[in-house]
Amino acid sequence: MSMQQLKSEFDLTLNHLYPSTEISNFFYLLTSALFGLTKVDIALNRDFKPSSSQLKSFNEATERLKHFEPIQYIIGTTHFFGYDFKVDHNVLIPRPETEELVEWIIKNHPNNEHLTIVDIGTGSGCIAIALKKHFKSCNVYALDISKKALNIAELNARNNNTHIQFLEIDILNHQKSQAVFSQIAQNKTIDIIVSNPPYVRYQEQKDMQRNVLDHEPALALYVDNHKPLVFYDAICRIARQWLNKNGALYFEINEYLGLETKQLFQQYNFGDVELKKDFFGAHRMICGQKK
Ligand SMILES: C[S@@+](CC[C@H](N)C(=O)[O-])C[C@H]1O[C@@H](n2cnc3c(N)ncnc32)[C@H](O)[C@@H]1O
Repeated sequence: MSMQQLKSEFDLTLNHLYPSTEISNFFYLLTSALFGLTKVDIALNRDFKPSSSQLKSFNEATERLKHFEPIQYIIGTTHFFGYDFKVDHNVLIPRPETEELVEWIIKNHPNNEHLTIVDIGTGSGCIAIALKKHFKSCNVYALDISKKALNIAELNARNNNTHIQFLEIDILNHQKSQAVFSQIAQNKTIDIIVSNPPYVRYQEQKDMQRNVLDHEPALALYVDNHKPLVFYDAICRIARQWLNKNGALYFEINEYLGLETKQLFQQYNFGDVELKKDFFGAHRMICGQKK
């Protein structure tokens, strides 16, 4: 089968499920991942014919797209902050708004190479690794409840040539969290705590797409409708205790809960609290300073 035929069949199979530009993106991501061909290679190399095993993998990937599985899980990688990250069903696919959070931290701490940073709920490790890439001499600790997520994050740290310390934690278990933080604080005092914790209320699922609902890990996403800030509360409490004086706490937040999150910061007596809008104008980040 020629590449032109393959592309026509692919378009035909998916055109009732996705917009045409997305189908075209999927096609080139798959041909790159499975055949090692760029878009330009395909345009120049019109006679290329995939082998039967390549074709089999391509058809399996198409089938997975029919079930709205995210392309990043199918090809097993994504980009974040200019770096490559392995992803599988145990980790959330890093989002562009999280890149904005990393950018904000970098902007707020110029000339601060020797920071100690703790990322809570690290998932793929994207925040921790992007920060370590920028602040080359900082100490970064990355924590998660999921061993499987920590394994992926460790692999990503290795692939991106970064040294990060990974620790298992249940941030909602106060006693166990105390043990982890006293271990970190034995070596270093903490300058920055950052987290993109679960914040989607179950009631918001009705507005979500199937690719997220059916395929991304529930553990990474959802919180009880009646306790939407449960993670923020636990992390503020920990940060209040373990951050340095003038240390900073950063969160990605639920865009509908900006004011409530700000009030929580004030309850815990954080100063200089700032809510920040993302590229689309939604309140998606917050930062405060331990007084
Ligand atoms: C929204 S994801 C964020 C992943 C990654 N930091 C990012 O920004 O893409 C939340 C992460 O919190 C972790 N998590 C969930 N419950 C937790 C808990 N009780 N303690 C620590 N981490 C938890 C999940 O495993 C998941 O990796």
